[in-house]
Amino acid sequence: MTGPVDERAFELVTLASGARAVKHRGHGEVMHPGVGPWREANHLYVDQSGLAVRLTEPGPPLVLLDAGLGAATNAVAALTCARALGPAQQRELHVWSLETTLAPVRLALEDAAGFPFLQPFAAAVQQLLRDDVVHLPRATWRLVVGDMAEAWRRADLPAAHVVFFDPFSPAANPQLWTPAALRLLRARCDDGAEGCALYTYSASTPTRVSFLLGGFFVGAGVSVGTRRETTVAATRPGLLRAPLGERWMARWERSSARAPHGQPLTDEVERALRDHPQFHAGTGQPTFNRLAT
Ligand SMILES: C[S@@+](CC[C@H](N)C(=O)[O-])C[C@H]1O[C@@H](n2cnc3c(N)ncnc32)[C@H](O)[C@@H]1O
Repeated sequence: MTGPVDERAFELVTLASGARAVKHRGHGEVMHPGVGPWREANHLYVDQSGLAVRLTEPGPPLVLLDAGLGAATNAVAALTCARALGPAQQRELHVWSLETTLAPVRLALEDAAGFPFLQPFAAAVQQLLRDDVVHLPRATWRLVVGDMAEAWRRADLPAAHVVFFDPFSPAANPQLWTPAALRLLRARCDDGAEGCALYTYSASTPTRVSFLLGGFFVGAGVSVGTRRETTVAATRPGLLRAPLGERWMARWERSSARAPHGQPLTDEVERALRDHPQFHAGTGQPTFNRLAT
């Protein structure tokens, strides 16, 4: 799905906030452009997923799929959260990072002043890049280099409990946001009692339609920077704090962007969306709950 990656395609930039970030020279997108990498990684991904609390509850290893290692900010934020728990951590954290190119993380590691939060894990990152795996106290971090959509096809990827879905935007990485691609990702999610919740920065209508058609239940996520909302997608509606409901459906019916990413709007697509169990009784959940947006 992706061609060879030019290692010179990335550069470091300073954001208006003063934070350093990695930019793709080709399409110009910046990783974590708003409030800066560390704040966004913690607010949108780590804190919102309730990772700290979940790691203090005994259980099998918690599997986190880090979709888009990039400069490793999200992955290191998760590992930092686990490390800060000390002996309170009751279950292991298994991070699986997926990425086509290691250029962004190499750039960020070299800029210790710009990415100080990576430094406590510098040796771990080096080992990860060398061996594709690093074992830490109560955590394991693995790297799968290549097209993440191909990785989603792999049955040997463990069932994920949490996904940090952070590719470039649908404009830059169109193939990763289609219902077909998201169905592959959905198949890698835990379908047991724990289930899986996915966090991503995009809150656009086509993004939410893609996740719904990809087999997820979908809700609004926290606001970050200038984004009023982000998106949470889950295997069960009970994992969503603010599931999309009647108001969102009414907006979708009026929207001029009702198609999912990468697929035309057909009668079948419209029907599939209207028939989605999220919007219907008989799923054991209320049709539209009062928190719904
Ligand atoms: C927004 S950046 C990720 C930022 C990262 N999560 C962090 O915390 O620094 C998106 C990343 O997705 C990677 N990517 C894009 N398409 C991909 C694909 N098909 N498979 C794997 N990685 C991909 C890019 O190389 C880029 O590093």
